[in-house]
Amino acid sequence: MLWPKIVSFALVSLCLARVHQAANQDSSASCPTGFSRVADKCLLVGAGWKNWFEGDRYCRTLNASLLSIRNQTEFNLINSYLPEFAAYELELWTSGNSLGDSQANYFWQSTGKEATYLPWATGEPKRASGDCLSLTANYTMEAGGEVVLGEHRLTVRNCTLWGTVICETQLTRYRTELCLNPNAFYEAQIPV
Ligand SMILES: *[C@@H]1O[C@H](CO)[C@@H](O)[C@H](O)[C@H]1NC(C)=O
Ligand SMILES: *[C@@H]1O[C@H](CO)[C@@H](O)[C@H](O)[C@H]1NC(C)=O
Ligand SMILES: *[C@@H]1O[C@H](CO)[C@@H](O)[C@H](O)[C@H]1NC(C)=O
Ligand SMILES: *[C@@H]1O[C@H](CO)[C@@H](O)[C@H](O)[C@H]1NC(C)=O
Repeated sequence: MLWPKIVSFALVSLCLARVHQAANQDSSASCPTGFSRVADKCLLVGAGWKNWFEGDRYCRTLNASLLSIRNQTEFNLINSYLPEFAAYELELWTSGNSLGDSQANYFWQSTGKEATYLPWATGEPKRASGDCLSLTANYTMEAGGEVVLGEHRLTVRNCTLWGTVICETQLTRYRTELCLNPNAFYEAQIPV
């Protein structure tokens, strides 16, 4: 009884070929637990206040680092994320700093790169204030005593001051494949 075996082998091969084709088109990305996807990275607003150094260490315990800002597209997306995830937080530490740089240039500690896009608040940078960059909300006090938060922009602050921490990490990209085993189909997620 060779024929049934050949037929079922052919069917399985056909099935595998289709599965392979389908799987190639199916790739997705996700953030670690607790992080939210913003632009093409994952952000997390830490609980409580920390100075810049404590914030840096805190993010590292999460396999992340303090926020960096690459360009205006990313900056706008971060600013639209903040009201939801950091409502009422006036000062948010980024990884930007000029620590130890004799030229007082600013670097993103998370990428190691010099900061080329720096969306300063009005009147900034006030270099004498310190060496660390925070995203500071522009707020106005309404007549009724209500505080209205505007956009967050970069200000220079003393690294030992307290602020809220934003950590960033990379998206994890997955390719989902269907695999056949003798008893069942199962899905495997393979980091790419
Ligand atoms: C950080 O990454 C290491 C190595 O990949 C892993 O063992 C650890 O569980 C991760 N920690 C967190 C908080 O995700
Ligand atoms: C700007 O940031 C966006 C969002 O993070 C990113 O997708 C894009 O590649 C960046 N553009 C440049 C020129 O770096
Ligand atoms: C706050 O925003 C207003 C309106 O855009 C602007 O005129 C003002 O200079 C800003 N203040 C600071 C501290 O950035
Ligand atoms: C930051 O604050 C500390 C403690 O108040 C102070 O000793 C230090 O001189 C300040 N640094 C700068 C750059 O202002």
